[in-house]
Amino acid sequence: MSSLVLTVTETLRYKGAFGQLNWALHRLTGLGILFFLIQHVIDTSWAVFFPDLYVQAIAEYQTPLFTIGEFALVAAVVYHALNGWRIVVFDYRPELWKHQERAALGVLLATGAILIPVFIIMFGHVNTFYFGDESPDLVPLVDLILNQLRFIIGIGVAVAVALLFSFIHEFFTGRTTPERSRTRPLGSKVERFWWSYMRISGMLIIPLVFGHLAIMHLIQGVFDITAAGHVAAGATGVVGVNETGTAVEFVYDRWNTLVGGVAIWRIYDAALLALVVLHGFNGLRYIFNDYARQEAIRRGLMYATIIMAVILIVVGAAALIVNVDQDAVQLAAEAMANLHAE
Ligand code: HEM
Ligand code: HEM
Repeated sequence: MSSLVLTVTETLRYKGAFGQLNWALHRLTGLGILFFLIQHVIDTSWAVFFPDLYVQAIAEYQTPLFTIGEFALVAAVVYHALNGWRIVVFDYRPELWKHQERAALGVLLATGAILIPVFIIMFGHVNTFYFGDESPDLVPLVDLILNQLRFIIGIGVAVAVALLFSFIHEFFTGRTTPERSRTRPLGSKVERFWWSYMRISGMLIIPLVFGHLAIMHLIQGVFDITAAGHVAAGATGVVGVNETGTAVEFVYDRWNTLVGGVAIWRIYDAALLALVVLHGFNGLRYIFNDYARQEAIRRGLMYATIIMAVILIVVGAAALIVNVDQDAVQLAAEAMANLHAE
């Protein structure tokens, strides 16, 4: 892991070029979004399988710590998308390389330009929720931190199990773990596939994730996911209003909205799920590959990315297939009443 320390110290020391800053920011934002995605897909599945937990999870989204995280998440997605676009353009048009510095600066400026109006709208929602007529009923910070620990422990267990498998594999094959001489195995067909996948999926993710965030943060607003008597954004008039004012009914309304007999939001979420999980975890594999020097550790971390990606795809797809029903909405309404009674 000495190369990780080297990356951090050299990035801090090497203050000159935007290129280096953009590289570090791209990596950091990719990791941040991925960490959010892991808990997001798991907690979205609770809308179907454990409605009371979903009520609690969305109540946690509506607290100051998460509100700060929400702004950081939106900034990370916008920056990562624009910088990803820059990477793709320069990869396919190498003759433009002489403009690298200016393009890197352009990405930072464009991120700022997009975020100003977006943040103004988001601040509007924040202001109404925290400083409106009714004072909000907030989840205590201790509960929130303890609940977050579950995800961190879950990720830790997945990594530990994967490393254990890798060492067992090495024990039985009798191979030693040499120092790795280079970081990425370049040139193989598989790696070329993933290289193209990262670029193509990145381009496809842009409209999907921007659309998703526009619905959740701008049109609906995270605080109004639980607004009673409102039509869920994107579910206009088809299913009706969110009568119970629960996040579960919000998802119910969207996932059961049919356009020409097609459940458009479930298909949309399925596409987003498949693209971002594979993109994010392959990105994580690149990062692990860059820092893991020992073969057994590198292989173990690769197993960890596979285990976590498979879990997320299975859990996310199961929720979409099983779908939220009226019983889940009822359970959520009871859980919501209990939450506010406490
Ligand atoms: C705080 C920010 C976010 C909020 C409040 C939010 C909210 C939601 C909600 C309510 C759903 C349930 C389904 C629906 O109504 O369409 C959902 C599903 C989903 N979201 Fe988000 N979202 C956020 C950010 C993101 C980001 C940044 C990504 C991608 C990196 C993402 C990816 C997904 C995916 C893949 C699903 C489907 C999950 C499944 O298959 O079970 N979301 N989101
Ligand atoms: C919004 C659209 C997105 C675009 C245009 C995009 C583009 C890219 C590109 C071009 C790369 C470089 C791949 C390489 O080095 O071969 C990359 C890396 C990465 N992306 Fe994305 N991406 C997007 C969304 C996401 C999302 C939603 C996540 C998290 C779930 C994510 C996580 C990562 C990670 C972890 C890396 C590896 C960073 C590294 O190697 O330093 N990206 N992305």
